[in-house]
Amino acid sequence: MDNTEEYLLEFKGYNFERSLVKIHIVESVESADDFEIRDDDVFIITYSKSGTIWTQQILSLIYFEGHRNRTEDIKTIDRAPFFEYNTHNLDFIKMPSPRLFASHLPYYLVPKGTKKLKYKILYIYRNPKDVLVSFFRFSNCVAILKNSDTFENYIKMFLDGKVVGSRWFDHIKRWYEHRHDFNIQSMSYEDMKKDLRSAVLKICRFLEKELSEEVVDTVVKQATFQNMKTNPQANYNDIVKQEMGVRNTEGNFLRKGTIGDWKHHFTVEQNERFEKIFQREMKDFPLKFIWDINEE
Ligand code: A3P
Repeated sequence: MDNTEEYLLEFKGYNFERSLVKIHIVESVESADDFEIRDDDVFIITYSKSGTIWTQQILSLIYFEGHRNRTEDIKTIDRAPFFEYNTHNLDFIKMPSPRLFASHLPYYLVPKGTKKLKYKILYIYRNPKDVLVSFFRFSNCVAILKNSDTFENYIKMFLDGKVVGSRWFDHIKRWYEHRHDFNIQSMSYEDMKKDLRSAVLKICRFLEKELSEEVVDTVVKQATFQNMKTNPQANYNDIVKQEMGVRNTEGNFLRKGTIGDWKHHFTVEQNERFEKIFQREMKDFPLKFIWDINEE
């Protein structure tokens, strides 16, 4: 039986996670009276499993001293809340500037602002085979996502866009095509993984934040996989257990945090099939993807 609709809510051609989405927030974007974008707002935009929680942590560390020295007990989800999944019901209108948001929205559903208002968007992308594996593993652990008994079935769901976020290809291609409509900086998960310090500095330049060497060192240290995994402010362990529900004990946002885990999941045949579709879909796409940790 296809129970996809139990998990997904389709709105304007895009699949949301049904139980968490605050659809009125997405609708409010169209009416500036309900949601007014500010020019110092910052949005982290990703397709799921591309490094969202990681970037939320990096931005929280860059903007908040109390996050860096851990004197304030505020989780990253409340520092840089999900826009469309405002599960803690934060009052976005009362949030002090600069507001940080995370979002998986496609380009046509995010706030547009006016030409004068140039809020910043960090678009983080990851090679889709690792995204698929990460999403597969996460969906099989977390109760609010549709699970899949086999990896083969999940590949099909992912390619058909029958997952939260719809088709990966559409998300990244359309965002790229419309990049000039926004003030946007794109970065890959793999670049962050290979050289986190350079990635943090690049993010700081884009956000026009000047940090001392010492502060940059602290940001980098607290944004490593190992440190985030053991930090309750950053690892979302409570959120997964208490707000999403788990099917087993493996439901972690911070699972492996590496490049190329897809090689442990795809068979040769599945990889060839995926490659064919990837080549067809992405043939004119200029950004490069890194598929292996040893790749330059
Ligand atoms: P894996 O499942 O491959 O480990 P998102 O936050 O968009 O859902 O992405 C989750 C993915 O980002 C997970 O991938 C997670 O481990 C990885 N991730 C989170 N923080 C990371 C970090 N500091 N370094 C490397 N990867 C990280």
